[in-house]
Amino acid sequence: MAIERTLSIIKPDATRRNLTGKINAKFEDAGLRIVAQKRIRLTKEQAGKFYAVHAARPFYDELCTFMASEPVVVQVLEGEGAVQKNRQVMGATNPADAAEGTIRAEFAESVGENSVHGSDAPDTAKEEIAFFFSGLELVG
Ligand code: CMP
Repeated sequence: MAIERTLSIIKPDATRRNLTGKINAKFEDAGLRIVAQKRIRLTKEQAGKFYAVHAARPFYDELCTFMASEPVVVQVLEGEGAVQKNRQVMGATNPADAAEGTIRAEFAESVGENSVHGSDAPDTAKEEIAFFFSGLELVG
């Protein structure tokens, strides 16, 4: 399988509870390498741009407010089949449906405050990585 990169965000509910290291250990244990990482505070407008694909959803405003409520850690994960592997490590969007041992099963508080975001496909990953990182910041 090809080496890929995917965008990951450790969300405000997790940074608030000081879970960055525990979540990063899950990525690294699964063979994903963190090749870029920064802790930032999003404005609601920036969160809205990132999640523009969800603009028509009833939870959009709540989602953008939440993502701007505390710092987030944005990161690029690299590895074989990184997009799908990260989705497995994260678990289902709703923690009630997430498999045992996944990040969302262990740490997420609700479907909205679900600790992590991960790109859903290689094309999306390219766009989402470029949203937060310049090429110079990616050191594989
Ligand atoms: P994420 O993978 O970041 O992609 C979009 C996010 O929208 C998702 O994780 C959830 O945090 C959020 N989301 C999805 N469904 C709902 C919902 N029913 N209510 C609130 N937030 C939701």
